[in-house]
Amino acid sequence: MFQTAFLTRKRRRPDINFTQVHEEVKFRDVTLYLVEKRMGKSRRNFLTNLARSKGFLVENMLSGHVTHVVSEGNAPQELWNWLEEQNLREPHNKHVLNISWFTESMSAGEPVPLEMRHYILNPAAERKLCPSPSSKPMSTVSPYACQRRTTIENHNKVFTDALEVIAESSEFSGNQGSCLAFRRAASVLKSLPVALKCTEDTQHLPGLGEHSKAIIEEIFECGASLKAQEILRDERYRTMKLFSSVFGVGPKTAESWYYRGLRTFEDVLTEPTIKLNRMQTAGFMFYEDISKPVSRSEAYALKTIVEEAVTCVNSSASVNVIGGFRRGKEFGHDVDFIIRVPEPGQEDGLLSAVIDRFKSQNILLYSDFQESTFDLRRLPNRRFEAMDHFQKCFLILKLKRDQVTDIRSIDEVRERFQCRDWRAVRVDLVAPPIERYAYALLGWTGSTLFERDLRRFARLERGKLLDNHVLYDKATKTFLPADTEEDIFAHLGLEYIEPLQRNA
Ligand code: UTP
Ligand code: MN
Repeated sequence: MFQTAFLTRKRRRPDINFTQVHEEVKFRDVTLYLVEKRMGKSRRNFLTNLARSKGFLVENMLSGHVTHVVSEGNAPQELWNWLEEQNLREPHNKHVLNISWFTESMSAGEPVPLEMRHYILNPAAERKLCPSPSSKPMSTVSPYACQRRTTIENHNKVFTDALEVIAESSEFSGNQGSCLAFRRAASVLKSLPVALKCTEDTQHLPGLGEHSKAIIEEIFECGASLKAQEILRDERYRTMKLFSSVFGVGPKTAESWYYRGLRTFEDVLTEPTIKLNRMQTAGFMFYEDISKPVSRSEAYALKTIVEEAVTCVNSSASVNVIGGFRRGKEFGHDVDFIIRVPEPGQEDGLLSAVIDRFKSQNILLYSDFQESTFDLRRLPNRRFEAMDHFQKCFLILKLKRDQVTDIRSIDEVRERFQCRDWRAVRVDLVAPPIERYAYALLGWTGSTLFERDLRRFARLERGKLLDNHVLYDKATKTFLPADTEEDIFAHLGLEYIEPLQRNA
């Protein structure tokens, strides 16, 4: 048989091995077929040999045994027309995939788990599922936020607002699992390039559970989510929301105040048994200012102030905006900055000197300084902690009205500063060691859900542990070095996602 195949090969296709006889087959559940159309004969030949050398079974003919069909460069309609012409009995039983699944599998040395984004769906079948003529197929959405490009432009706000209210209410009830499920559903919708047109549009989307789908359906039918409206009227939700809007008050404290029968700030401030900590005291003292959103122009005015203080302490240090403003948001609840020092160890003592400078300038209203507890020997940490180990500080600074130069209108200043010549703003600073800079920058840019999915993807899909300090490869038991965020995405075999596309 080998002889025949060999002879056949020689005669008809001199550059393709017709049977796989030399390499051992490692993955018995997967039988590949590479579509030659558009890929070209020589590339197909090269990829065939590559896959076989890694233990994949590759068939040259599109037979009933083939489980995975891989195509490169073919438009979905064109590919499916061709597949249908092949007179296969059940072409729909095969995974029809784009080349990304193949290249990821080659670099992983094994078949990577199939995700929606790998599939090339039959456009005709999709049109049947959702007859609306304007609807685009929403078939290539990844279940991981770090594989979706999510800008601040949200075409599905009516759905995501409702889902987020429900998520927050679950969080207030201590139901973390359901909170995360609703947040994930909202995040998937935020990544879509168009608005949902009908309930069926959600059919191919990952991460949407029954509850989330029911909310979407209700909005299509009634124009609003009754469940979300009920929550917004609920006394417990409203009180928890009010209390946890105070700097230093988390859901636990908010809940304990609620159960003690307190409903307003006045109730809290006049209750003699309540002892506020330093952070909460500042939170109430500057509540009016810091509960107001910070605008982009205010954020950049603060950048100038922080830069001036930092370079005064170390002229080779630089300052970058992180958090929501780096992702292109127009407003934030605070302004986050990362300080970059060019040499290892230069971050020591930096933040306390910067804080002293703010104090001497009389613009420091509150400061909570945290010294570095970073120790590479204690990493990697299997359980992700919300707090990282870098030197950092949580501040309230005074921003003077005339420091905000880039303002759109006089009304904006009047509204924000309300006849005073300054306002209070929450500012966070972090100063990591230079070898950790890329990890800290990535971790502090957010969004929180984007970061969460980066870590989940690293762990589940790549066997690596990621946090704000390191990327650790479990297979080789090594820490992977990175100078830039691009390096970290590359280590994870992920396409680079710009900060402006991380608003998951
Ligand atoms: P923020 O809470 O400031 O969120 O944290 P944000 O995205 O900027 O949103 P707004 O606009 O202020 O409301 C920014 C990022 O920094 C991370 C958070 O996880 C988030 O992704 N962070 C914050 C840390 O990694 N460690 C910290 O100690 C604090
Ligand atoms: Mn922020």
